[in-house]
Amino acid sequence: MCGIVGYIGTKKACPILIAGLTRLEYRGYDSAGISTIEKNGLSLMKDKGRVKNLNNLEGIDNLEGTIGIAHTRWATHGKPSKENSHPHQDNSKTFSVVHNGIIENYNELRSFLESNGYTFYSQTDTEVIPNLIHYYFEKDSQDKSIMRFLKAVQKACLDLKGSFAIEVISSLYPDNMIVVRKDSPLVIGTCEDEKYISSDIPAILSYTRDFYLLNDLEFVLLSRNEARFFDSNLNEIKKETTNIEWNASSAEKEGFEDFMLKEIYEQPTAIRETIGSRISPDLKCEIEELNVLDKAYLSSINMIYIVACGTAMHAGLVGKNSIEKLCKIPVEVDIASEFRYRSPIIDEKTLCIFISQSGETADTIAALKLAKSQGAKTIAISNVIGSSITREADFSIYTHAGPEIAVASTKAYTSQVILINILAIYFAEILGVCDSNLLKSLKQEILDLPKKVEETLKCDSQVKDFSKSIYQEKDIFFLGRGIDETVAKEGSLKLKEISYIHSESYASGELKHGPIALIENGITVISILTDPNLVEKSISNIQEVITRGAKTLVVTNQNLDYSMFDEVIKIPDTIPFVSPILSIIPLQLLAYHISKEKGLDVDKPRNLAKSVTVE
Ligand code: M6R
Repeated sequence: MCGIVGYIGTKKACPILIAGLTRLEYRGYDSAGISTIEKNGLSLMKDKGRVKNLNNLEGIDNLEGTIGIAHTRWATHGKPSKENSHPHQDNSKTFSVVHNGIIENYNELRSFLESNGYTFYSQTDTEVIPNLIHYYFEKDSQDKSIMRFLKAVQKACLDLKGSFAIEVISSLYPDNMIVVRKDSPLVIGTCEDEKYISSDIPAILSYTRDFYLLNDLEFVLLSRNEARFFDSNLNEIKKETTNIEWNASSAEKEGFEDFMLKEIYEQPTAIRETIGSRISPDLKCEIEELNVLDKAYLSSINMIYIVACGTAMHAGLVGKNSIEKLCKIPVEVDIASEFRYRSPIIDEKTLCIFISQSGETADTIAALKLAKSQGAKTIAISNVIGSSITREADFSIYTHAGPEIAVASTKAYTSQVILINILAIYFAEILGVCDSNLLKSLKQEILDLPKKVEETLKCDSQVKDFSKSIYQEKDIFFLGRGIDETVAKEGSLKLKEISYIHSESYASGELKHGPIALIENGITVISILTDPNLVEKSISNIQEVITRGAKTLVVTNQNLDYSMFDEVIKIPDTIPFVSPILSIIPLQLLAYHISKEKGLDVDKPRNLAKSVTVE
C-alpha cells in the first residue's frame, strides 16, 4: 500500500521518480506527488488521481534537482485529495517527507505539536512526521553538522507508533536524503554515484541489481556516492549489498496487454524456477534451507499452522491437504488477520508456515511475530528475497517466481502450491511415514507440470469466448469438493477482485444446506472436477443446480459425459495433490477476460493494492 520512490544522483530526479512511481503504481493509485531539492529550495508537486497526472502539473518540466522523493498513495487517513497527497511538509517548508504505513498515535502527536504552535492542512497521519522532525531539529540548534538532521529524524521516528517507511529531504541539506523503515518495505539500490530508493525491487531493477535491505529502525544517510547506516541509537553500522537475480525485463509487459496476462503465461517458467534443483531428474527431493529440521524435530511436531492472506492462504489450503496426507501431521490453515486474535494454541511443538508473495503483508508479519514469541519454529514461503517476513522467520524458502506486478496474484499462487507440495514431500521422506511409490509419482508429476501448464494455457481462446457470454452477470457460483474446493475459492477471489462480479465459492456438498436457495434460472455455476474419487458425488451436486436452471461451466481432467454441461474446459490429467496448479489456470483466464470485456483496469482493480502493509 502506497509506493515510495527516491533518487539521489547526478541526473534530473523528476523523470526518474515519475518512471519509478509508474512502475510502483500497483501499490496504490489514489494520488501521487514528488518533491525535489531545487536551487531555490524544495519543490512540491502533487495531486489526486493517477501518476500520469503529474506530467500535467504546471512547472513539473522545469524541475532541475538531482535529489527527490516521490509517492503514490493508497488512502488510509483522509480521502484522496491534493491536500492529503504526499509529500508532506512541515510548517516552515524545510522538510519534505513521503511515508508508507500507518502512524497509530498520530492524534496524540498532532495535539502535542498543535500545543507547540504547529498547524495542519491535511487529514493524514503522515503530516505529523515533517513537523515532528522540525520540532526536534529546532531544539538542537547548537549542532551545525549533518548529524543534526539525522538526530531530528531519529527522534521523530522513535516517537512514532505503527508502521512506516519514510524518505526525508531538507532544503538545508541539499546533498542528502534520510530514509528509514519499520514494518513497511523499503530497499536501496546502489550504483557508483547514484542511489535509488523504492518500496519494491522491480521499480528500480532497470538501474541496478545491487540492493541494501534494511532492518527495522535502521537509519540511512544518503549522498550521491555513499550510503551510511545507523542503528536506532545512531551507532554507525556496516551493511553489505544483496545481488538480486531478477532481470529488468521481467518487470515489463513485454508485448502483453497487461501484467496479469503476462504473469499467467509466465507460469510454466515460474514453476520451473520454483522446482529448481529441489527435485532432481532422478527424483531426489532436497530443500537445503530446511536441512537442520531433522527427523527428531519433525517427529516432535504435533501441529502445523499455515498462516497467510488472500490467494496465499488458498495456496495454504492446498498445502494442508498435502502435508496431512503425506506427513500425517494435523494442519490448520488460518487467515493471518484472524490468527493472532483467536489465541491459537502454540508451543515449541508447533511449526508455523507463513506464505506471502510480497513478504510484506502486515497481518502475516504480525501473526509470525506472535508465533515466534510463543515458541513455535517459523518458516516463511515468499517470492521476495530479503522481504520482512523472510527476515523475521527462522527459515525462509523462496518461490523464485519472478516479480509479480498485477494486483491479482497468479504465478505466485501456482509457485506457492508447488513449493508447499515439495515441502510436504521433503518432510514426509525425512519422517518415513508415507508410501515411497506415492512420493515418487508425486515428484514425477511435479517435474511434468511445467509442460502440462503450457498445455493448459491453450484453453485461452475457449475461455475468452465463454467470458463474452457471462461478463454481464451479477452473481457467479464456484463449486468443488476436496482439493477442488480450494480452487473454487481461488477462482472466486480472482473473479471478484478484477471483474467486480459478486461470486461465492462453496464445497459442492454444502450447497444444499442453504446457498442452493440462491440458484435460479440462468445463473452461472462453475465447477471444478479433478479428483476421480469425488467425481460422481460432485456431478450429483452439479445436477442439483442444473435442475434449478443454472448455466454450468466445468473445468475437469476427467473423461465424462459432457453433454449435460453448457461448457467444459478440459485440462491435462495429474494427481489431486497438484491439480490446483492446472485447474486454476482457466479460472485466472476467465477472470482476466471478463475484466477486459467490461473495460476495467485489470492490473489495478479499484480499492486494492498489491502489497497490504497495513493491518
Ligand atoms: O503478498 P501476499 O502474498 O502476502 O498477499 C496476500 C494477499 O493480499 C494477496 O494474495 C491478495 O489476495 C491478492 N490480491 C489476490 O489476488
